[in-house]
Amino acid sequence: MLDHIGDIHIALPNHSAKTLMPAFDMAAQKLKSLGLIALGGAGAFSAFSFFKGDQRFFDEYLMRGVHLALNPENAHRAGVLLAKYRVLPNRNTEYSELKTEIFGKKFRNCVGLAAGFDKDGEAVQGLFDWGFGFVEVGSVTPESQPGNDKPRVFRLRGDQGIINRYGFNSDGHDAVLDNVTRDMNLPAGGRLGFNLGKNKTSDDAAADYCRGIAKFGKKADYIVINISSPNTPGLRALQSKRELEQLLTKVISVRDELGLRVPVLLKIAPDLLEQDKKDIAEVIQSRGSRVDGLIISNTTVSRPATLTSENKSETGGLSGRPLRGLSTLAISDMYILTGGRVPIIGVGGIFSGEDAYEKIKAGASMVQIYSSIVYRGPPIVETIKKELVQCLKEDGYNHVSDAVGSDHRMDALVSKLIQIR
Ligand SMILES: Cc1cc2nc3c(=O)[nH]c(=O)nc-3n(C[C@H](O)[C@H](O)[C@H](O)COP(=O)(O)O)c2cc1C
Repeated sequence: MLDHIGDIHIALPNHSAKTLMPAFDMAAQKLKSLGLIALGGAGAFSAFSFFKGDQRFFDEYLMRGVHLALNPENAHRAGVLLAKYRVLPNRNTEYSELKTEIFGKKFRNCVGLAAGFDKDGEAVQGLFDWGFGFVEVGSVTPESQPGNDKPRVFRLRGDQGIINRYGFNSDGHDAVLDNVTRDMNLPAGGRLGFNLGKNKTSDDAAADYCRGIAKFGKKADYIVINISSPNTPGLRALQSKRELEQLLTKVISVRDELGLRVPVLLKIAPDLLEQDKKDIAEVIQSRGSRVDGLIISNTTVSRPATLTSENKSETGGLSGRPLRGLSTLAISDMYILTGGRVPIIGVGGIFSGEDAYEKIKAGASMVQIYSSIVYRGPPIVETIKKELVQCLKEDGYNHVSDAVGSDHRMDALVSKLIQIR
C-alpha cells in the first residue's frame, strides 16, 4: 500500500502502516528525550566545570569558544564584567610560601594582575576572588580619553600572543577613583596598585604623572609611572636618561611634599638597549629620583621571527608567550645592574607556575599576568600559584623570597668554582 507523508509517497507493506507509525513516534520521542538529557548533562557539566574553575575545561573548550564567539575587545569587556559582577565564586587559596613583603607592604601572595585589564578600576573585588595577591588598575590618564580607533586588539592564537594598540583609553582620574572607592573592601593582604599614563594631547607628561600621585597617593598601595606603553606618541622617549631623571625628580618631590608615603614604581619596556638599562639603573637609585621598585616589562614593539599568526604585522605592543624570554632577560639585566637592591615585579608571557618561577629566579620578587588570562581564563591564577609552590618545593625552598635572583647566585657560584679549579 501507499502511505502519504506530506508530499512524499512511500511504499510500505500492508501490515506496517498502522503498526510502524506509533513505533516511529516512540523512537522519535525517545531520541528527543535522550538528546535533551545529553544537552542537559553537557550543560550541567559545563556549568560545574565553569564554577569549579576547571583549568582543562577553560583551556580546551571555554576560551576557544569565547574566541570563536567574541572579538578580542568584546571578550576583554566580558572578562571585566565577569569580575565586576562577581560571577565566579571566591577561589583564593592561601599559600604561606607565596606571602610576600616588599617596599614595606605585606602581600597575601606574589601573583598579581598586570595593568591594562581593569583599566578603569571597575572590578577590583571580583579580581581578588580569582586569587590574585594584588591588582593593578589602569593605565589611568588625568582626563578621560577614548584611545585609538577600533579594532585595536588582536589575538595571535597560534603564538599564544596578543598585539594591542588601545592607546590609553581611560575614564580619567576622577571616575577611576570613584569606581575604586565604591569597591574598596579589599581582602586582607590584597593590595591595590594604580598605573598612571599621560593624556595623548598633554604636552607636560610630568604634570600628568604628578596629578596622578596627588589623586591616588592616599588610596594606593603602590603607584606605577608607566612610560613604556608603545601606543602613545613620545611616551617611551621618557625612558632616556635626562628625561627620566627630570620626570622622576618631579614625581618624587611631589609625593614627598604632599607627605605621601606611597611607593612609586617605574614600568619599563623590554626593548631597551644596554646603555638605556645602565642609565635607568643609575637614575632610579640616585637621590631625588629614587624609586621603590621596577615593573619589567611592558609589551614589545619587536616581532620575533618565530611568530606564525596572520596578525603578527599589526601595529602595537606584543605580549604573551612571545614576550616571555625578552622580559626575563630584561629582569635579569636590571637585577644585576641594581645589585638586587631594587625590588622587581616580573611580567611577560607567564602562562604557568614554571614561567613565574623563571622570572623569580631571574630576580623578580613578585609577578603579574595578563595574556595568559586570555588563553587560559581566570583559573590560571590559582593554577600558577599551585604550580609555583610545587617548583619551590622541588628546589628545596620554603618561601618564594628565598628563590629571588637565585640564578645569579648560581652563576656567581659556578664562576667561583671555575676560578678555584
Ligand atoms: C590588551 C592589553 C592592554 C594593556 N594595557 C596596558 C596599560 O594600559 N598599561 C600598562 O602599563 N600595561 C598595559 N599592558 C601590558 C601588560 O600590563 C603587561 O605588561 C604585558 O602584557 C606583558 O604581560 P603578559 O605577557 O602577561 O600579557 C596591556 C597589555 C595588554 C595585552
